[in-house]
Amino acid sequence: MSKPISLRRLRMNPWMRNLVQETRVQPLQLIQPLFVSEGLSEREPIRGLKDIFRETPETLLQLVEADLKKGVRTFLLFGLPQKLSEDRSGEVQAAFTQSQVASLKRRFGNDLCLWVDVCLCAHVPQGHCGFLEHGQVQNAATVQTLSEMALVYAQAGADAVAPSDMMDGRIGAIRNQLDTNGWDQTVLVSYAAKFHSHFYGPFRGASRAYPQGLKDRSTYQIDPARGKDAFLSASRDAEEGADILMVKPGMPYLDVLKELSAKIHKPWAVYQVSGEYAALESLIEQNFATAGALYRETWTGFVRAGASMIISYAARRAFEYFESYEGKGGNGG
Ligand code: PBG
Repeated sequence: MSKPISLRRLRMNPWMRNLVQETRVQPLQLIQPLFVSEGLSEREPIRGLKDIFRETPETLLQLVEADLKKGVRTFLLFGLPQKLSEDRSGEVQAAFTQSQVASLKRRFGNDLCLWVDVCLCAHVPQGHCGFLEHGQVQNAATVQTLSEMALVYAQAGADAVAPSDMMDGRIGAIRNQLDTNGWDQTVLVSYAAKFHSHFYGPFRGASRAYPQGLKDRSTYQIDPARGKDAFLSASRDAEEGADILMVKPGMPYLDVLKELSAKIHKPWAVYQVSGEYAALESLIEQNFATAGALYRETWTGFVRAGASMIISYAARRAFEYFESYEGKGGNGG
């Protein structure tokens, strides 16, 4: 009888396991989302998003200062204006977030790499990612306003703008708006492979963006059963000038991330969204897993599948999680 082939030899001690790892995650690959709300007197917890708050402009600065001390460098900012309106002026819609971008940049300069979400769902009373007319989200009018908003954020100091609306043509329009106004160095991140997901629940509460009038976002976000649509969307956005492409959510769409990152040679980001975070936190809360091991495993999966960077609500804990694992062997372990 021939001896079995041993794959276990390389699993036998932590040092050996560490040496043979192909995928390594670094805390600097993590991006921390931030919510800042206009008109709050104190910061508010968000249902389903443990330890994440709707910050006031003051607590936002304190939080970012603390995060920078931990080592976090890149943030994705969601600004929540107090007054919801259908105003078509990008300048009007962008005003509150603009002031927050400016205040972060004034205080922290290039110590932080600031990405700003560009969308209308937290701005309009009906909670869709664009203007509603005749029962449909209007593409052209929405893209026009989004382009104006993106320019305002760039002018306020955003390092990157990240449109998450899924309208057609927004990447080309925003790139054009930035370039023709002298902001050709602002990075454009496209939520290109953004699926119509049921993992966005806690975020909807955070941003108060519950879609109304038209029941859900299925007429503009990608059907989970349409991987090919994600490919077409990402190819188009790359062609229109996106610098970074994104898959969202993360864990249910690793196949998409793997395939698209192999085919489209742009840097890929993945968004571990609010519902994924809530699910992971529930495992941790019930003592089914330790937080560090659990997040390292999911983040390793993203990098293995082709992500260069990961947006996660647990990003600010990455430094702690990797420090505690060092030398213990096994990135996912
Ligand atoms: C909307 C937007 C959503 C998220 C980011 N931007 C929700 C949606 O499309 O309904 C989700 C993020 C998360 O769930 O963490 N523009």
